Amino acid sequence: MRVKSAGFIKSATSPEHYPRDGRPEIAFMGRSNVGKSSLINSLLGTKGLAKTSSTPGRTQLINFFLINAAFSFVDLPGYGYARVPSEVKREWGPMIEKYLATRPNLVLSILITDLRHEPSKLDLLMRDWLIEKGRPFVIVATKADKLSSNQRRTNLSRASAVLGKENPIIAYSAITRSGADRIWKEITTRVADFGSGKPLVKPSGSHAD
Ligand code: GTP
Ligand code: MG
Repeated sequence: MRVKSAGFIKSATSPEHYPRDGRPEIAFMGRSNVGKSSLINSLLGTKGLAKTSSTPGRTQLINFFLINAAFSFVDLPGYGYARVPSEVKREWGPMIEKYLATRPNLVLSILITDLRHEPSKLDLLMRDWLIEKGRPFVIVATKADKLSSNQRRTNLSRASAVLGKENPIIAYSAITRSGADRIWKEITTRVADFGSGKPLVKPSGSHAD
């Protein structure tokens, strides 16, 4: 995928502030500090477009970015960071859920976990949410560069045992960009399907009917 242009559109907390351009959207979600913004930047080949931080809970709004004037990346606030004040935490769930439940042009969600750790209860909850809402998704296990190739293999099969073998998991590193081609393939396929008017296909293993 050649990224010719990438720019910030806007931040939003509620549907009336989402962009109204109708372009297909790809949402990035996962635990706070897991590497959502780093994944966005490294896929796009930009450094500071999505703000990254070693302080968890940095992204507290829904941030929209326009790519090649054709589709958008959506950086969702991270969940599950204990030290965020409870009134902020209370707003996160509904903010993310509202976006997932109502956005008609959401064509793909990228659920991000940390390859070093076993997927958490919140990761499982997110996966269940996506299945329940009939949203196509892929799981990306990031920070793969922090592990040896042996550990990568072991941890990938552990993650897949926890999250379900029917949900393929792509190992990724924002440092080496290994895994980027597979992620781009998922994105471009969904964007093209949206353009051709194909209905969204529910993920395999969906029990949403
Ligand atoms: P919030 O917006 O706070 O929820 O965080 P986030 O999920 O957007 O994480 P962010 O991209 O800000 O990354 C958090 C920290 O992890 C930063 O210090 C990144 O440099 C680091 N990081 C992210 N991805 C990788 C990766 O693939 N490899 C390595 N080594 N570090 C990474
Ligand atoms: Mg972030």
